[in-house]
Amino acid sequence: MKILICGKGGSGKSTISALLAKEIAVRENRVLVIDTDESNFGVHMQLGMGKPDDFMNYFGGKKVLFEKTKRLREKWKTDDLPDEYIIEKGNIKLMAMGKIYDFGEGCACPINALTSKFLEVLELSANEFLIADTDAGVEHFGRGVEEGCDLIFAIIDPSRESILLAEKISKLGQQVNKPVYYVLNKVNKEIEKELLGSIDTNRIAAIIPEDKNIFKSNLAGAELDFYVKGIKELANLVTR
Ligand SMILES: Nc1ncnc2c1ncn2[C@@H]1O[C@H](COP(=O)(O)OP(=O)(O)OP(=O)(O)O)[C@@H](O)[C@H]1O
Ligand SMILES: [Mg+2]
Repeated sequence: MKILICGKGGSGKSTISALLAKEIAVRENRVLVIDTDESNFGVHMQLGMGKPDDFMNYFGGKKVLFEKTKRLREKWKTDDLPDEYIIEKGNIKLMAMGKIYDFGEGCACPINALTSKFLEVLELSANEFLIADTDAGVEHFGRGVEEGCDLIFAIIDPSRESILLAEKISKLGQQVNKPVYYVLNKVNKEIEKELLGSIDTNRIAAIIPEDKNIFKSNLAGAELDFYVKGIKELANLVTR
C-alpha cells in the first residue's frame, strides 16, 4: 500500500509520517518512507536516521531530471533501489527525492515529476508499505503525484486554514479516485469538540493529541521513539 501524507505547512505531516512508519514497521512489515518535501529536512531526524542523498542525483541532478524521469519506465522493487540513496534502520528505509539548495536554482517541478513517476513504477510486495511525506499545500496534486498512491491522509491541525485545505484535498482526492481520510493532530479535549463540529467526521481516521514530548523531541532534533496516542489506530487502518 502506498500512503500519501499531506496537509497544511506545520500541521504535522512529517511527525505523523515518522510515527506511522515506525508503528507499521514494528508489525513486521517493511516500510519505505519517501521524503518528497523539497524544502524541509525534518523527517529523517524524527525517524532517528541519517539524511539520505537526494534521489534526483541518481539521475544526474535537477537540471536533467525532466528528460530522465520521462524515461523511467521500468518497474522497480524496493530491493532494486540504489543503496547509495537509501538509509536503512530495521524495517524502515528512507529516501529523499530532492531539495532546493541555491538561490535562483529554479522550481521544484522536476522533483515532483520524479516523485510522481516513482510512485507509479514502484512495485511493493504484500508486506511492504510506502509512506510519502509531502510538501505543504496541494502543488503535488497539480503535478499528479497522487495518481500512484492508494490512500491519502490529510493532516488537520486546529486552524481554519488546515480545515479548508483538508476539504480541498478531499475534493482533489475524489477527482483522482483516491480515498482521503483525516488525521486530527495537536488537539486537546476542548479543541477536539470544536474541530468535530467543523469537519466531515466520517473521514476521521485518527485523533492525535497535542503532545509535549513530540514538541520537545523536534526542538532537540531527536527521534520520536515513544508511544503517541492515536498512532496504533491509524496503523490498524492500513495493516488490518
Ligand atoms: N501532536 C503533536 N503535539 C505537539 N507538537 C506537535 C505534534 N505534531 C507535530 N508537532 C510539532 O509541530 C511542528 C511541525 O510538525 P511537522 O514538522 O511534523 O509538520 P509538517 O506538516 O511536516 O511541517 P512542514 O509543512 O514544515 O513540512 C513540530 O515542531 C512538531 O514537533
Ligand atoms: Mg514536513
